[in-house]
Amino acid sequence: MKVLIVGGGGREHAIAWKVAKSPMVDKIYCAPGNAGIASVAECVPIGAMEFEKLADFAQEKAIDLTVIGMDDPLCGGIVDVFEARGLRVFGPRKNAAIIEGSKAFSKDLMAKYGIPTAEYKNFTDPEEALKYLETASFPIVLKADGLALGKGVLICNTLEEAKDGVKQIMQDKKFGAAGNEMVVERFMTGREVSALCFCDGENIVPMTSAQDHKRAGDGDTGLNTGGMGTFSPSPFYTPEIGSWCMEHIYKPTMAAMKAEGRPFKGILFVGLMLTEEGPKVLEYNARFGDPETQVVLPRMKTDLVQMFNACIDGTLDQQNLEFEDNAAVCVVLASDGYPLSYEKGFPITGFEKFHDEEGYYCFHAGSKFDGDAIVTNGGRVLGVTAKGATLKEARENAYKATEWIEFANKYMRHDIGKAIDEA
Ligand code: GLY
Repeated sequence: MKVLIVGGGGREHAIAWKVAKSPMVDKIYCAPGNAGIASVAECVPIGAMEFEKLADFAQEKAIDLTVIGMDDPLCGGIVDVFEARGLRVFGPRKNAAIIEGSKAFSKDLMAKYGIPTAEYKNFTDPEEALKYLETASFPIVLKADGLALGKGVLICNTLEEAKDGVKQIMQDKKFGAAGNEMVVERFMTGREVSALCFCDGENIVPMTSAQDHKRAGDGDTGLNTGGMGTFSPSPFYTPEIGSWCMEHIYKPTMAAMKAEGRPFKGILFVGLMLTEEGPKVLEYNARFGDPETQVVLPRMKTDLVQMFNACIDGTLDQQNLEFEDNAAVCVVLASDGYPLSYEKGFPITGFEKFHDEEGYYCFHAGSKFDGDAIVTNGGRVLGVTAKGATLKEARENAYKATEWIEFANKYMRHDIGKAIDEA
């Protein structure tokens, strides 16, 4: 079969790499892709938001399955466009992707259906938000309602910071229309866990757990980023916690979406906080996590295309999803200056040392060809992933592999997965 993947980051590279392992697949296209994805797929220069052009391409090439990796096209309704043209596509429809596209929607959903999450209040009027914050206790969390490249969440320690946050989000519109509405939420403490789950509208099957490191600097300091590294599994997410989440969070979320007339098919990414009061939902995403995917898929034994098909066909209950009994760590190699300003176009070397049969992977997030050379082309450049029998071994392997890669202005965190020492 022929598969088209929409996106061009590390997540889509990991998806394309795993799809290429499926014996069902003869040919993979990726739009727009990147220099690493080009090793497993033919990259086509169509943007992820060009829905009609993508659908035309899928029709022309007789694509059997299109997989949408990114949040923007999902929230913009790409699945609806493909379905209307009779094209087979993996991902939630627009009316279900809203679970990521609107934080106010997702908080109201959780409140209505008793799904554990932090106490909150939604605001469309900045004056009302400011009045509420006068009496709030701190720290407190402000979230722009819409998509903001993972940057629309502000943790405010004082009233002054919160007032400035309201200004940034709702008045100055730092995140554009995403700030037309804002969620104010109680600050939660605990271990964060990312649970990526296959969903078929009725059934939900979680993958192995992972944890992301979102801040730019060691020791969780500095600015929020798209993610600087991940490890899998999370030792804090025990089988008992997993079962509890299944009964109190995952299944109720599926039932809630169905009851609202928004059945969710695709990947539901549940961002959890393991608080002293039990697990609570931090956020939902309507797609694979990035860079969580880079540690989860290399450990997955089951055919990914088979799982995509089961989600589309509503047969997830007949699947036996399996993962290797090992661990993986991904360290993101970024351009110095990310997430603010950084230079691009530096040649990258060292790829030849990575062999997936040895448990070493180099997923490309921001790279492109310049003649025969591969050069940096983004803030997050590569996701260097390694497996190991244990998390400690995987971490040692991943950091060893980061030394194989060279490019000017290479930047990384040095403490990815350090939390596992405390488990
Ligand atoms: N790693 C967080 C995200 O994908 O949103």
